Amino acid sequence: MTSALIVGASRGLGLEFARQYQEAGFQVTATYRSEADRIKLRDLGVQTLKLDVLESGDVNDIAWQLKGEKLDVAVINAGVYGPRNSMTGVAPSLEDFDQVMRTNVLAAMRLIPVVAPLLVPARGSMAFISSRMGSIAEAGASFGMLYRTSKAAVNMMAKLAHVDFNPQGVRVISLHPGWVRTDMGGPNADVSAQESVSGMRRVIEQTSSYPSGCFFDYRGQSLAW
Ligand SMILES: NC(=O)c1ccc[n+]([C@@H]2O[C@H](COP(=O)([O-])OP(=O)(O)OC[C@H]3O[C@@H](n4cnc5c(N)ncnc54)[C@H](OP(=O)(O)O)[C@@H]3O)[C@@H](O)[C@H]2O)c1
Repeated sequence: MTSALIVGASRGLGLEFARQYQEAGFQVTATYRSEADRIKLRDLGVQTLKLDVLESGDVNDIAWQLKGEKLDVAVINAGVYGPRNSMTGVAPSLEDFDQVMRTNVLAAMRLIPVVAPLLVPARGSMAFISSRMGSIAEAGASFGMLYRTSKAAVNMMAKLAHVDFNPQGVRVISLHPGWVRTDMGGPNADVSAQESVSGMRRVIEQTSSYPSGCFFDYRGQSLAW
């Protein structure tokens, strides 16, 4: 049976990934923070792991709990937006900086050495849910500068994970989900979570069309770093 790990599966895109992979017959392991979310995911029929990515103890715990597992797919999805500040406004507070950079960047840095080796046996795929807002090449506005900067760093990590783990057979890609109707994207966003995730799954699963070390959107279009 094929297996998928979804980091940050309590709601929004992560929950939709868990739902769709479960429906597709994958053995799904989904991470959550609150007890209510554990029950919601359990009722979906997926395995659950408690993980607050800001807690290094939780990352150590899942490293231990996942030891010896073999994964086909890992989706590093957990993320926060933070303040909308632009370059012409006030700089983000230290608290906001820490929350966004630790959640979006430090957590992924801690998770890569735990998760990537589990993908080696099946020559699996690791997908970082990044954002077009993290593309340096496409930057055209500075609102949300802290989020943009964090996602540019996520893209660098995806590339570095590709450099280190692709020689061992792991495919690493960075994905832009579109502007999606979730708590983060808001109700006026363009795309449903269902459409975004089914598109991203297609990109994740079509390994030869979407090579490692690259950045794609949910429709499979290539994006510039
Ligand atoms: N929606 C969009 O338009 C859009 C566009 C581009 C990129 N993205 C990216 O897509 C990903 C998912 O976004 P979304 O729209 O689904 O956002 P969302 O609805 O706000 O969900 C965010 C998810 O991240 C989890 N999370 C946040 N902080 C965490 C922590 N410290 N530890 C563990 N989990 C944590 C949340 O868990 P809790 O429920 O426990 O808080 C939740 O599962 C993010 O990386 C986001 O940057 C979204």
